[in-house]
Amino acid sequence: MAKGKKTIFFCQNCGHESGKWMGQCPSCRQWNTFVEETVSPLPHQTAKSARSQEPALAPVTLQEVQFHEEERRRTGIGELDRVLGGGIVQGSMILVGGDPGIGKSTLLLQVCRYLSRDGASVLYISGEESLAQIKLRARRIGEFNNQLRLLCETNLELIRTVITRQKPEVVIIDSIQTMYHEDVSSAPGSVSQVRESTNTLLQIAKGQGVSIFIVGHVTKEGNVAGPRVLEHMVDTVLYFEGDRHASYRILRGVKNRFGSTNEIGVFEMKHDGLQEVANPSEFLLNGRPKDASGSVVTCSMEGTRPILLEVQALICKSSFGIPRRTAAGTDFNRLNLLMAVLEKRAGINLSSYDAYVNIAGGVKMTEPAIDLGILLAIVSSHKDLVIENSLLAFGEVGLSGEVRAVSLAQQRVLEAKKLGFEKVLLPKACENIVRQITGIQLIFADTIREAIGVIHSLSGARPPQK
Ligand code: TYD
Ligand code: MG
Repeated sequence: MAKGKKTIFFCQNCGHESGKWMGQCPSCRQWNTFVEETVSPLPHQTAKSARSQEPALAPVTLQEVQFHEEERRRTGIGELDRVLGGGIVQGSMILVGGDPGIGKSTLLLQVCRYLSRDGASVLYISGEESLAQIKLRARRIGEFNNQLRLLCETNLELIRTVITRQKPEVVIIDSIQTMYHEDVSSAPGSVSQVRESTNTLLQIAKGQGVSIFIVGHVTKEGNVAGPRVLEHMVDTVLYFEGDRHASYRILRGVKNRFGSTNEIGVFEMKHDGLQEVANPSEFLLNGRPKDASGSVVTCSMEGTRPILLEVQALICKSSFGIPRRTAAGTDFNRLNLLMAVLEKRAGINLSSYDAYVNIAGGVKMTEPAIDLGILLAIVSSHKDLVIENSLLAFGEVGLSGEVRAVSLAQQRVLEAKKLGFEKVLLPKACENIVRQITGIQLIFADTIREAIGVIHSLSGARPPQK
């Protein structure tokens, strides 16, 4: 074994390291996931050679630091540019994670198409598909020009040689789990292989100024297979989410050294590749039931964009001792908290009821501003009260039953107005900010009791339709 190398046991599920074998992983609680692997010196020890400047022995002042605005190359896909913070930064590494089959390869091939049309030299390296399969996919997407080069290869040293020779501006690695480095003895997809492969790519990216996209498959529990190790090594982490069976996809920025995180891009999978969705709110509210109880529209800010979404709740009598609660698309603990607040502060007894809460459309939203929406959906379903279709509600709910102010209330109200809503129920504390908005009725509430009172009075004349 080479000097400086040792073996470590890794959990193949979450990447937890241990000096000895264990039956159960203390981090993710999975059984029998530890595998012994040989590891090379730590990534930060080898990544040193990748840094282009000389080691700074003398500390410098901020004024002395040489700086030039990083160059960004637009990908030609507006929604992706938004998530990246304006385009691809030269020499950056971007991880695109997501479930198998969600559309990562399709998106990146589309990126290749735009970039190569734009005159950039692009290299698409696939370890998963044959050239013929890539061509088949490309045919669905559209016309390509001659600037795109394809390569089927999994050996990273060979890939390094090709990149050095061809000098592409952008490289796509599809996927990191299929790549391997000869120095590491374990199988491709294992933690140390993925780590070493990413490390090699990092050296290429930083050393040669190539921007590299890497595809990483997410396995169960939402981790990119093997490697949380990946996330801290790359510059940008994007995740593709959405229901595989529905046609839309959400691309979410989780980490971005060159832009804001929590921006989202919305796409729809069509027969000719992924298409951008310009107005996601309209898209998400599509198919909303009319005059049904348990359905409320609320608003969540995703980065700079307000997104309207429908919260659905179903409250029914529990047939077991312990009531069942499920939250799809939102935080389970938050749901429990909101139900506890409802019991204690609004006197609605829910302890013998099952509760199912769902954000329609399979998206995941966890901003506290949707609290009021969730809470009203629960009340609406429990009391069988129909909430008007033209009402939107948002606000954070506190433990004392107060409705708290949320940021950017103005944008949210304007988005509601744009989409034809007539009434907005929002925190009283936001009154000053939104007062001047006209053309939409604003109803303010200070506590959840007041908010529940509002929906009672609004729906008084509208009995639920069976
Ligand atoms: P893919 O990009 O292969 O997923 P990943 O790389 O994340 O594993 O996505 C494949 C899915 O998308 C597959 O089920 C077929 C579908 N698809 C379309 O619906 N339209 C298209 O134009 C393309 C290329 C794929
Ligand atoms: Mg793929």
